[in-house]
Order: sequence, then structure tokens, then C-alpha cells
Amino acid sequence: MAEIRIEGVYKRFTKTSFPFRRRGKRKASSPERGEEAEPYIVALDGVDLTIRDGEVMSIVGPSGCGKSTLLRIIAGLEEPDRGRVLYDGRDMKGVPPRDRGIGMVFQDYALYPHWDAYDNLGFFFRLRKREHEIPPRVKEAAEILGVDFKYLLSRKPPTLSGGEQQRVAVGRCIVRDPQLFLFDEPLSNLDAKLRSDTRVQIRRLLNRFRVTSVYVTHDQAEAVAMGDRIAVMREGRIIQVGTFRDLYDRPADTFVASFFGTPAMNLLPGHLEGDAFLHGSLRITLPRHLRAAARAGQPVYLGIRPEHLHLAEEPQGAMGVVEVVEHVPSARTQFVHIRLEGLRLVATADENLPIHQGDRVSLQPTPEALYLFDGITGKNLITTE
Ligand SMILES: Nc1ncnc2c1ncn2[C@@H]1O[C@H](COP(=O)(O)OP(=O)(O)O)[C@@H](O)[C@H]1O
Ligand SMILES: [Mg+2]
Repeated sequence: MAEIRIEGVYKRFTKTSFPFRRRGKRKASSPERGEEAEPYIVALDGVDLTIRDGEVMSIVGPSGCGKSTLLRIIAGLEEPDRGRVLYDGRDMKGVPPRDRGIGMVFQDYALYPHWDAYDNLGFFFRLRKREHEIPPRVKEAAEILGVDFKYLLSRKPPTLSGGEQQRVAVGRCIVRDPQLFLFDEPLSNLDAKLRSDTRVQIRRLLNRFRVTSVYVTHDQAEAVAMGDRIAVMREGRIIQVGTFRDLYDRPADTFVASFFGTPAMNLLPGHLEGDAFLHGSLRITLPRHLRAAARAGQPVYLGIRPEHLHLAEEPQGAMGVVEVVEHVPSARTQFVHIRLEGLRLVATADENLPIHQGDRVSLQPTPEALYLFDGITGKNLITTE
């Protein structure tokens, strides 16, 4: 096991070095002097992150934000242009991936198709002339991976389903007894049902091993399910690190706020006036701590999670029109999608409340549960992180 420290990691790619056109191109924020002006992509723009010994860290963010590049730098498959990676305080510069004691699981499994699962698991030991270790190691891995895993061992990857291949890929990591597990979107080739089953299996494994792990995904639900803590990335930077509760209750900005939660937080553009937030004819009285957080007239976003926005019993203030009603039986609730003052908002209503498309409604937020963000930078005006 190991503590992983990432310090000031910066990485860019010249566009010409890459044969394909990619989305999400960015200019460097600080081009170095003397270098010729070549168009390049900054994949990581000063990343600091500590992953504690035995912790599972999820790294989540939209496609192209630098997650895979960060993981490849942790693994040693890529060297940073600036900054460093330390394992238990030891600078890993120049240490090749095979000497870092890592197990990696990728989206595409990378199993050898011509070998059965058993040989795929044993390859690492055969390469090191430690064949005698294969039977006990594979036996142990099979016990961990569940009763039916041994039936997979004699089969070749092309005859296995996506979920089964992924289990073999995980098994292949386990047998090596790594000090660090690295996952890069391991479930994204699986269908929804298999994805949630396999997710639970992997999490169970990680609970059992307590091996330091980094789990990369673009999926918020997966990040929450897998990570003890979550690092949210955007455009080559880490915006916020914390437990799901930290991120959900105290999002650093509108990006994090709208990233977690389904449906996403309502963000209403407007400004403060007196004791209230105003957007057109919509007026929402604010509690004192929010009022104090912004100047009168300053552009802001008012954040209201759908679970904190309800339909008012009596018509009051600005009225909206119900566009869609979405039933959520598991939560005994319904999400009510409303158009109001040119905004699209989502509110929650009791499952028994008779509500239909086209109904005119007014809204009532829970005052203590409101958020306020700067209208220009998007920063949370309440948290002081
Ligand atoms: N080898 C490469 N050459 C050029 N650009 C790259 C290379 N690898 C990644 N990039 C670019 O760096 C950015 C981050 O990529 P990546 O780390 O793969 O993002 P993510 O995994 O979050 O989708 C993207 O804009 C991508 O196009
Ligand atoms: Mg990626």
C-alpha cells in the first residue's frame, strides 16, 4: 500500500504529435519564454492531489479534462513536463511502470485474446520466471472474485461477456498483489445493469484489500459509488476534493454544484435587491447569511436543489407552467419540470399530489437550503475554501 502525492503536475501535448483531431482544445495559460509558438493542448495545468494510504480516490470530470493523462502520469506511462509524483514520499521520476507495483484496469480490458483467462492471470509471473506462484495466486483471486469465477478460467476472452472480461482483467491485477490500483473508466463498455453489478463487485474487492486506488470516470454516480473521496476535474485542473457529502453540501462552484445530483441543481441567474433575489418578476426572500454574501445588484446565481424546491400550496408570486412530470416510484416522489420566467426548473412533489402537464404553479424553496454563486466566476459565495 502507498500514499500517492501529486505535486504541481503540468502536462501539455503538441497538437502535431497527435494523429487525430480531438475535442476540448485549450491554449496554455503560461507559455514559456523562448519557445516557438506552437499550438498545443494543456492536458494538466498544475495538479496537486494527495491520495491517502488505502483510500479509493475517484477522479471525475467531463471527457477531455485530463483524467486519463493524470492516471498515466501516476502509472509512469507518461512523464510530466513539470511537477512530480511521489509514492510514500519517494519521487518516482524515471521509475518505469513495471517497477511501480501497480495494477491497471482500462476500459478495453487489454486481455490477450488467444490465451484462456487462467493464462492471462498468470502471464505476469511467467514473464518473471515465477511460475510456481501461479496456482496459489489464481486460486486466491478466484476465491475473492466469487464462486463462479473459476468457471471463467478455462475460457478465452472473446467467448466471455464484457462483464466477465472485466472481472478477468480485475483478477489479473489482484494476482500481482499491487500496492496501487489504477482504473480508467473500467465499466464504460458495459450495459447499465452490468455496470452497476460490476461496480458493486469492484467496490467489495477494494473494501477487502484496502489497496490505495485511483478510479477515473466521467460518471458522477460511479464516482460517488466507488470513491472514499472524489476529485472533480475540469480543463486540466482539480476544482475540488472531498467526500460526496462535502461536494454535495458545499460545492466550490456552479460546475461542481451541477455535476452532482440527479436532476441537477437549479441555477437561476439574477441579482440581489433588499432582502431578496430577483429574476424578472420572480422574487425569493433570502435568509440573512445569503443576503450578506453579495452586494446589491451584483450578478449571482441562486442555487436550489430539486429536493428543496416545492410547489406552493397557495398561488403566490411568479407562476410557472408544468412541462413534464417524472415519476420516481423508488423515492415515492415525482420530479416536476417547470417553465418559469424563461427558466427551466425542476421541483419535487409528493407522489400523490395530482399534478399534470400544463398546470400553472408557483414555487416555494426551502430557505435554509439555498446556495449563492458569483454570476461571473461561478464561485460559491458562502463556502470559504
Ligand atoms: N498523446 C496525446 N497527444 C495530444 N493530445 C493529447 C494526447 N493525450 C491526450 N491529449 C489531449 O489532452 C486532453 C486531455 O485528455 P485525456 O487525459 O485523455 O482526457 P480524459 O481522460 O479526461 O477524457 C485532451 O484535450 C486530449 O485531446
Ligand atoms: Mg480518458
